[in-house]
Amino acid sequence: MIHLSPPHMSGKELEYIKKAFESNYIAPVGEFIDKFEEMVKNYTGTKYALAVVNATSALHLALRVLGIKAGDKVAVSTFTFIGGVSPILYQNAEPIFIDSDEYWQMDVNLLEDALKKERPKAVIVAHLYGQIGRIEDIAYLCKKYGVFLIEDAAEALGAKYKNQFAGTFGDIGVYSFNGNKLLTTSAGGVMVSNNEEWIKKAKFLSTQAKEDFPWYEHETYGYNYRMSNILAAIGVGQMEVVEERIKRKREIFNLYKKELSDIAEFMPEINNSRGNRWLTTLLFNQKEPLKVMEYLFERKIESRPLWKPMHLQPLFRNAKSYINGKSEEFFKKGLCLPSGTAMSDEEVIKIANLIKES
Ligand SMILES: Cc1ncc(COP(=O)(O)O)c(C=O)c1O
Repeated sequence: MIHLSPPHMSGKELEYIKKAFESNYIAPVGEFIDKFEEMVKNYTGTKYALAVVNATSALHLALRVLGIKAGDKVAVSTFTFIGGVSPILYQNAEPIFIDSDEYWQMDVNLLEDALKKERPKAVIVAHLYGQIGRIEDIAYLCKKYGVFLIEDAAEALGAKYKNQFAGTFGDIGVYSFNGNKLLTTSAGGVMVSNNEEWIKKAKFLSTQAKEDFPWYEHETYGYNYRMSNILAAIGVGQMEVVEERIKRKREIFNLYKKELSDIAEFMPEINNSRGNRWLTTLLFNQKEPLKVMEYLFERKIESRPLWKPMHLQPLFRNAKSYINGKSEEFFKKGLCLPSGTAMSDEEVIKIANLIKES
């Protein structure tokens, strides 16, 4: 089976895991956690980083640290994965869904509408499929309306706009290291910020909110969210090849585009940006995405529809949404293609040919 985006190890990970074993730090502390955080910080150019069990928990910590509580409103991209939204529910806050623009990212005009009418406390902007949208405008609006900006860069490690990394434009940014992402620690997430207090508080909450006493003393409750040293060892091996992986993802995208641009439109990239092209995604002019998916599956090739917008999910039937029809159209016409960085050019061309003949 050719999978959508399988793990691609650098070859160093086992060596680092072995070192972690030898040190016996088989725990949510140890030198690899420190090193992994250091690498993410240095790469993205942020001051502080915290490694946790996944991006969903990192987003949850972000909301908690920023004081989002029951009844508060949070504006969030509708065209995204549930992991970027459920932390709002964990806080008993209310998601307000915002539709997409022509770059498939959060629409700035709809966001401003929602900021005026709903007065949310925070915005969670998803950088979809490793791309970045009008992030400067979004950051500007959040400042203008006095709203926290959290960047869900789960899929967008290494994406840049004007040479600044996704995840570093707002108050807090979050990356995923899940098994299907650009880089993986099997499961994992990292929160970044230039605000030391927030990262300190998130670390405190991620390790059960233990006060500084000889015994376990609690003034509030926390979570068991800290990343293990073993997984961080994998992360160190992965961070060493981050730019190589992005280069290959982009080559795969360009190859598909060259082969298929007669029958489909590809996800655009905004000027002055470099996406990581985590998944190659397209909109078919004529073809039925589910039929293509089935055709590929019968030939042991995995593909998947684009995210079903959150405002169309039964769970969010009654949620408030600012909609322009874009994400619904993307969902109807779109498909994610296999984008694993270990794939050869021949495999990509074979998949493109199968799509054409489907
Ligand atoms: C946009 C988005 N947000 C959040 C998540 C959640 O990340 P994780 O699986 O690390 O919790 C994912 C992916 O899994 C995602 O694609």
